[in-house]
Amino acid sequence: MDTAIVGLQWGDEGKGKVVDYFLSHANHSHCIRFNGGNNAGHTVEKDGKTYKLSLIPTGILTPNILNVISRGVVVDPVHFLHEIKILKDAGIAVSPSNLIIDAGCALITPDHRRVDSEKNSAIGTTGRGIGPAYEDFYARRSLRVGDLALPDHVLEEKFKNFFTNYSQWLMDFRSTILPYVIFDSAKYYQDIDGKVLFEGAQGMMLDVFHGSYPYVTSSSTNPAFASVITGRHNITNIVGVTKAYSTRVGNGPFPTELHTGPEAEVLSTIGREVGTVTGRKRRVGWLDLAQVKRSCEISGCRSIVVTKLDVLDSLGEISVGIGPLANEWVQTDNHMQYKTFAGWQVNTRDVTSWEQLPNQAKQYLEFIEDFLNISVKFISTGPDSSSMISV
Ligand code: IMP
Ligand code: MG
Repeated sequence: MDTAIVGLQWGDEGKGKVVDYFLSHANHSHCIRFNGGNNAGHTVEKDGKTYKLSLIPTGILTPNILNVISRGVVVDPVHFLHEIKILKDAGIAVSPSNLIIDAGCALITPDHRRVDSEKNSAIGTTGRGIGPAYEDFYARRSLRVGDLALPDHVLEEKFKNFFTNYSQWLMDFRSTILPYVIFDSAKYYQDIDGKVLFEGAQGMMLDVFHGSYPYVTSSSTNPAFASVITGRHNITNIVGVTKAYSTRVGNGPFPTELHTGPEAEVLSTIGREVGTVTGRKRRVGWLDLAQVKRSCEISGCRSIVVTKLDVLDSLGEISVGIGPLANEWVQTDNHMQYKTFAGWQVNTRDVTSWEQLPNQAKQYLEFIEDFLNISVKFISTGPDSSSMISV
């Protein structure tokens, strides 16, 4: 049985920490990314150090895990090598013995980055070239990682126009990347004996099919997509991650958003809600349970991790949105309904057992569980990997 960690909101739910926790506590052999690219920003605090990963799977921080960038991911080759260097500088071992790229990954080129920055500002993309790279992939004209192994004249023939402008760009990384590449990835995925942990990037509300289109990313964030990409069809432990409140970076609908006021200030500053990739201030708001419930349904999630509970500690009152769900085609007069809870106003930072939680926090979590009809299995109470309650 494989596991998938999936974001239930708009990304930044704390999946990086959850992936790291699962890899440290359960027996997995592989950590595989199946969507997105270096638009993701996974922050992991471990042994007193902070690591920020965008493209390389979080499992790189755990010894004896084989990390795979599968062909659902678009790869910026220059960024790939840059991230390896940052990890190595931080003392993390990275080599083809613990990191692999699927030959089928489409490459992000400098043109993709330029087009993304110039044309996609209305959506508020990360500007990393993700959308334009997927556009070329689905238009069947991408240069893929495996093409780097072709002899020069074949590569030149196959990508004539591109080669004229970018032969130097290609040569700069070609020989460094090739040792990381697996060419028969379908067989590779089938042959994995151990348990795989699939690391989701972004969140269900940014899914290109089911998110708030067009304010979405360009890949599917659904763990079912991991099966499409790898041919592994036993991903039954689907773990959904939600913050105890909501954030969103970029544009698009956010029904429970708090634009100003002391509560917004608490979520923003105590929660340190600044984008890992872009440095943009994240929009903040109450938890939207109607939205999270929909995300659970379409992702097939079987258990929940609630993160950043401690960020709510100082609030006198805490609200959650309970519906109705916004739908761009079906207009309703109903505004978002809220259920409001008394805050606990006690420190829950770094608490590691359910018993130590104040009653109001327990009630808040039990309401989430009842509303979603899914068990809350873990609660994160601080950035450090040890600040986790296993229920
Ligand atoms: P793109 O993925 O760069 O094309 O951006 C599309 C939308 O997804 C924008 O609103 C981005 O801010 C958002 N986005 C992309 N990746 C992440 C992420 O990892 N966390 C949060 N938002 C993201
Ligand atoms: Mg992030």
